[in-house]
Amino acid sequence: MLICVPDVLSKADVADFRRVMDACDWEDGRSTAGAQSALVKKNQQLPPDGEVSRQLGNRVVSALTASPRFISAAIPLQIFPPLFNRYAAADGHHFGLHVDNAVRGDRLTGLRIRTDLSVTLFLSEPDEYDGGELMIEDNFGSHEIKLPAGDLVLYPASSLHLVTPVTRGLRVASFFWLQSMVRDAHVRSLIFDLDTAIQALVERLGRDDPETVKLTGIYHNLIRIWADV
Ligand code: NI
Repeated sequence: MLICVPDVLSKADVADFRRVMDACDWEDGRSTAGAQSALVKKNQQLPPDGEVSRQLGNRVVSALTASPRFISAAIPLQIFPPLFNRYAAADGHHFGLHVDNAVRGDRLTGLRIRTDLSVTLFLSEPDEYDGGELMIEDNFGSHEIKLPAGDLVLYPASSLHLVTPVTRGLRVASFFWLQSMVRDAHVRSLIFDLDTAIQALVERLGRDDPETVKLTGIYHNLIRIWADV
């Protein structure tokens, strides 16, 4: 399941991120790629262990934890420190078809996670560049994702995906992985649908409607059954 979350960062935050990132030295994106993906990866990254990546990454994580839709969709246990990349048309940047590594370790913190979900947080507006679509394959076919700056997409880390060549301008993004408390993607999807329906009922009937309260209890009891914490 692909889930988009709008307005995770404000436009002012995005502008601030871009200002900071523009002043940085960038390195070859293959430094964090696995053996297969290194063969098809051509982009640039901020050094993952660098001060800027860590500071901006912390701001991303704060924004994520303040987003009810993100929390509901991901039910995150551990979020890998966000990384930052860019694709420039002038350098023919792209990222061919690959699957992300199943396990990720962070050198600085020693954190190790199973990558249940991959996340791309867009930091360029769609009209700043041509190409650069994130293409994600699932059982229903291939999906093309290009979102406004400040929005993110969550997708199964198990899916094959690619970034098409950028043919004009610059595509800047943050990307990272997370381990969910609910490992099973199908169960996670059902729980998300239930929560979305409950939130709609709360809007319509109020938080203290007896059936809404009952459904909220069912939601939490399902989490109790399925969550590994
Ligand atoms: Ni990837």
